[in-house]
Amino acid sequence: MNTNPQGVIAAVLVASDTRSTGKNRDLTGPAAREALAEIGIGVVEISVIADDIGSISEQLSAWTDRPDIALILTAGGTGLTPRDVTPEATKMVIEKDAPGIAEMLRAESLRITPHAALSRGVAGVRNKTLIINLPGSPKAVAESIGFLAPILSHALETVTGRAVECATRSH
Ligand code: MTE
Repeated sequence: MNTNPQGVIAAVLVASDTRSTGKNRDLTGPAAREALAEIGIGVVEISVIADDIGSISEQLSAWTDRPDIALILTAGGTGLTPRDVTPEATKMVIEKDAPGIAEMLRAESLRITPHAALSRGVAGVRNKTLIINLPGSPKAVAESIGFLAPILSHALETVTGRAVECATRSH
């Protein structure tokens, strides 16, 4: 399925202390790239950074300043460990909350694992860029992108201003 007729491109931020130092190899960024390619979305940047609220929010700000990036997926740091701060870093930068996206991801994921309840991921918009927090495992990322596939095209149309009004549509 190609959800991306307008050629929207994405960036992927992997938040992980161990993978940012090279102690563990990152497999999540490549999994995100592959799953996004399957729905027709190209990835221009993959960044693996520490679970640090300042570093994450700075990277999100820098990417949302770029006119070419319309979608940012973060992976990891959504759980309940003391180092999990991705939702807090995301909330620092978003201008508009998109709670329905996070609710949908949790609802769909709960059908796969009860541990989905442990993800505190949020979603929102900054500067015409949609930011969505996903859990950090390659499996969770691939599953989540599959759940997002039916809504991403229209979500990105609205975020980028290509579709301004939904009330007159039949769906
Ligand atoms: N969601 C999906 N779809 N698939 C998964 O395997 N794992 C859960 C949850 N959400 C999971 C999922 C687990 S085990 C945790 S601890 C939380 O996401 C938080 O993950 P994170 O800390 O890597 O962000």
